[in-house]
Amino acid sequence: MTNSAFGAAHSVVDGRAYPVCDAAGYAPFGFGYRRCAGEQLTTEFLKEFLRTAWRGEVEFVRLDLEHPEKLPVSPRTLIDDNIGFQRAR
Ligand code: HEM
Repeated sequence: MTNSAFGAAHSVVDGRAYPVCDAAGYAPFGFGYRRCAGEQLTTEFLKEFLRTAWRGEVEFVRLDLEHPEKLPVSPRTLIDDNIGFQRAR
């Protein structure tokens, strides 16, 4: 799956683009032509962050919070917001 600059998710197989097959579902950046303008910037930023974590340059720490905020990570799942990260020493 890839994403055009106009925000249409579509598949590309062996370099050939196939028609859009978007369905309502998990869409953190929205759908259609009013889709988030920052989507590609944000996903590139996250990929770079994950590469940095993979290289071991950041470390994740569990925060000792008495009442951590609940974060929705899917329509039916909430997790505690109690994980931070810092530059690895
Ligand atoms: C995790 C990060 C982000 C999320 C989850 C997010 C999500 C969204 C969503 C759901 C919309 C509404 C889309 C719709 O109406 O269908 C939106 C709109 C928008 N976002 Fe983001 N966004 C993020 C980051 C950013 C960043 C970093 C920028 C700019 C650098 C940005 C710029 C915009 C703009 C300009 C719109 C309005 C687009 C329009 O109405 O045509 N967003 N975003």
